[in-house]
Amino acid sequence: MKNKVVVTGGLGYIGSHTVVALLENGYEPIIIDNLENSSLEVINGIFKITGIKPSLHIIDCKVYIELETVIKNIEGICGIIHFAAYKSVNESIEKSYAYYENNILSLINVIKIADKYAIENIVFSSSCTVYGNPLEQPVTENMPFGEITNPYGKSKMMCEEILKDFYISSAKHKVISLRYFNPIGAHTTGLIGELPNGIPNNLLPYITKVASGKLAKLKVFGNDYNTKDGTCMRDFIHVCDLADAHISALNYANSKENKNYDVFNIGTGIPTSVLELITTFEKVNNIKIDYEFTKRRAGDIESIYAKTDKAAETLSWKSKRNISQSLKDAWNWELKNNKHD
Ligand code: WQD
Repeated sequence: MKNKVVVTGGLGYIGSHTVVALLENGYEPIIIDNLENSSLEVINGIFKITGIKPSLHIIDCKVYIELETVIKNIEGICGIIHFAAYKSVNESIEKSYAYYENNILSLINVIKIADKYAIENIVFSSSCTVYGNPLEQPVTENMPFGEITNPYGKSKMMCEEILKDFYISSAKHKVISLRYFNPIGAHTTGLIGELPNGIPNNLLPYITKVASGKLAKLKVFGNDYNTKDGTCMRDFIHVCDLADAHISALNYANSKENKNYDVFNIGTGIPTSVLELITTFEKVNNIKIDYEFTKRRAGDIESIYAKTDKAAETLSWKSKRNISQSLKDAWNWELKNNKHD
């Protein structure tokens, strides 16, 4: 039985947690990563957790020949999970063409490889940003793409469309796009977690840096939104629940005879405000966070959270960990890895 899974971006935040989940579920991950947004140390964390050091190829998915040189010599690949992409919403506004080149070209190379080497299953790392600023909540997969305010989200929407057309033209593959909501937290051992480059863009890694004294004060971008406490609402999901969703998606694709293309929301279905996340972090970790309200951040949407029925019914997947667990695990990771800036 084919059990090898190519994981592009496998040393990244979500990628590394998924590699651990693959190993724990009897798969053999083959990691591909260019180390642009990750560190070689991550493979040691994976080894400490699982006792296995998966094979690693340090190449760039944008360079087709590099990808083919690796893939053509590997037998028994049942699927590709494609994480490799740039993912900062606000950075994509300043570096738009780099985001389109990196995120779309790497996906096209993955598709070409899957087609040429008959790799049947593709699981793609998409994002709830494809919904834009949704008028109704919770968002469901059959909603049309929204008005997307940034190249990151647009690149994810374009990749979904490319995958759908590839499935239609080839009809030899099972293709799944997973729309992530807001991934947070870390593996409960504190041996792998989020490694933001420089000053974190995302909320929780910024909070943990303030809590550890590396950053002075958290800016809360806007408290004048039309929400219960004036701050934005998000669907924060534990990164290990997100990793488990990839296993469920792969198992589902592997078990199906007929080929198809499908999309799933991967969230908790529970809206949490920015302020609630801060106060819950303070409570569960018994730490005071210094913060101030400032003006809104360009490109932010007011509220988004997932309808999660489709993944529950079709993939038999639901999130299991609550927000308190995510916030404890995030702090545990920060404490155990305070050597990272
Ligand atoms: C969340 C909220 C900010 C930082 C992310 C990922 C994106 C996608 C969707 C997967 C917003 C507020 C933040 C800070 C703040 N995930 N905030 N002060 O923008 O929802 O997007 O999830 O594909 O890749 O980036 O996440 O954590 O940046 O912001 O007040 O210092 O926290 O305004 O309301 P976002 P975020």
